[in-house]
Amino acid sequence: MDHLLFNGAMTVKWARGGPGFLVTLDREAGPLGAQIQNQLRAAIRDHRLDTGERLPSTRDLAEALGVSRGTVVNAYDQLLAEGYLESSVGSGTRVAAVAAPVRPGTHASDGNSPTPPIEHIEIDFEYGIPDLGTVPLIDWAWAISEATRTLPTVELGDEDLTGSGHLRDVVTAYHRRVRAGSATAEDAVTVSGFRQGLTFTLAAIARHGIRCLALEDPGPREHGLIARRAGLDAVPIPVDGEGIDVSHLYSTDARAVLVTPAHQCPMGVALSPARRRMLLEWADAVDGIILEDDYDAEFRYDRQPVGSLQGLNAERVIALGSVSKTLAPAIRLGWVLAPPRFVTGIIEEKRLSSRGVPGLDQEALALLMETGRFDRHLRHVREIYRERRDVLSSEAERAFGPGQLPGLLAGCHAVLYLPTDMSEDAVVAAAASMGVRVNGLSGYRFRPQPGDATPQQVPLPPALVLGFGNVDSDKIRRGIRAIAAVICNQTPNQ
Ligand SMILES: Cc1ncc(COP(=O)(O)O)c(C=O)c1O
Repeated sequence: MDHLLFNGAMTVKWARGGPGFLVTLDREAGPLGAQIQNQLRAAIRDHRLDTGERLPSTRDLAEALGVSRGTVVNAYDQLLAEGYLESSVGSGTRVAAVAAPVRPGTHASDGNSPTPPIEHIEIDFEYGIPDLGTVPLIDWAWAISEATRTLPTVELGDEDLTGSGHLRDVVTAYHRRVRAGSATAEDAVTVSGFRQGLTFTLAAIARHGIRCLALEDPGPREHGLIARRAGLDAVPIPVDGEGIDVSHLYSTDARAVLVTPAHQCPMGVALSPARRRMLLEWADAVDGIILEDDYDAEFRYDRQPVGSLQGLNAERVIALGSVSKTLAPAIRLGWVLAPPRFVTGIIEEKRLSSRGVPGLDQEALALLMETGRFDRHLRHVREIYRERRDVLSSEAERAFGPGQLPGLLAGCHAVLYLPTDMSEDAVVAAAASMGVRVNGLSGYRFRPQPGDATPQQVPLPPALVLGFGNVDSDKIRRGIRAIAAVICNQTPNQ
């Protein structure tokens, strides 16, 4: 039990057989029973206490709060009478299903929302979700158990802020072996997924005087926001059939660029060999740095993926990796491989923000990779994604004709072009009303902020981004047919 006394106010965190719940009593602020009542009522209305949750017994709560049992009984009785609580013999007092205000974003619908509540979505082409049914949980459980059994006691303490030495060794060996990288453990910092790595990296490059980050347009949805949060200006660079159009970089103030070379997000092209060369030349010319988001590199279907840019110039490239897509977002471990001049800054950001990533999880990932279980899982899911990709491709070709679905050489998403006179939003809304979730390409466009000196953005045709990592073949077929029906029924420019 946790008592805090401040100026006559007593806060008790009730902690026995029932749910922990914070009640604060101020002995100088009027009747104690009314305070208990008001706080419980407010907690139920705010959903801090949810339907069905058990409350402490009147005896336990009275004892914990240092009030008479009768005070608590009266408070409970009042809330029972008001319908906030219900009680039955054997199951104690619980929160009743009251007409509390609906929690934002769960059930409420304003009737105009293009997306129905998530429970009505049957086929979900949301971008970026791997196949959640094949996450290697048995291997992960083995690795966690092995890590727990074998991790030296000293490593249970505050980890080395660079991250687990074992994982840094294993990850850089993997990056050299599979991605033709050149980093060693000294260049690696472990992080909690790509976004965290990016946040640390942006702060670190800002310390080196970099003020402006160039971003692919269209590109990953939140990168502009993340850049601005790090205090950098963001500038959009168009993407075409060869990837980012490097020539545009020279007319900006940017000395850093964030790219998805293995499989451009969302357009799906791989950065061409000529553009790769040009990008590295640009970085040399402006004394700049390339941030390489190496996502989807593991899922190339037509041939071996091209290597990581980091392997071509370790001084000008920071590679960021993550297992959110290869294993699961719920594991979300990642790494940053950076030239020595940035490593200290990245570690400093890590130190100040969180001190690091759970050591046991890092050890588990190291074991998973080192024993070949990670590679085996990749081989397994690559075949699943390849099959889904083939189904998507043939179904789309049948429904829409050839060439409407580029971006399928790698990864788990593709872009479906719509007739040019059609509204993306209308198609997204109509598909949602049929239980199919898709995103419009416009959601991936760079969003200039007031005051930005943003160059003219290249217009793009209406299109949908279809993520198929977590959609089985049958649902892909049905989903594409539903989208085809939606398109057929749309009037142009609706
Ligand atoms: C383009 C891109 N890169 C990387 C990631 C992985 O990010 P994280 O590790 O933060 O989940 C994602 C996940 O959605 C992504 O879309």
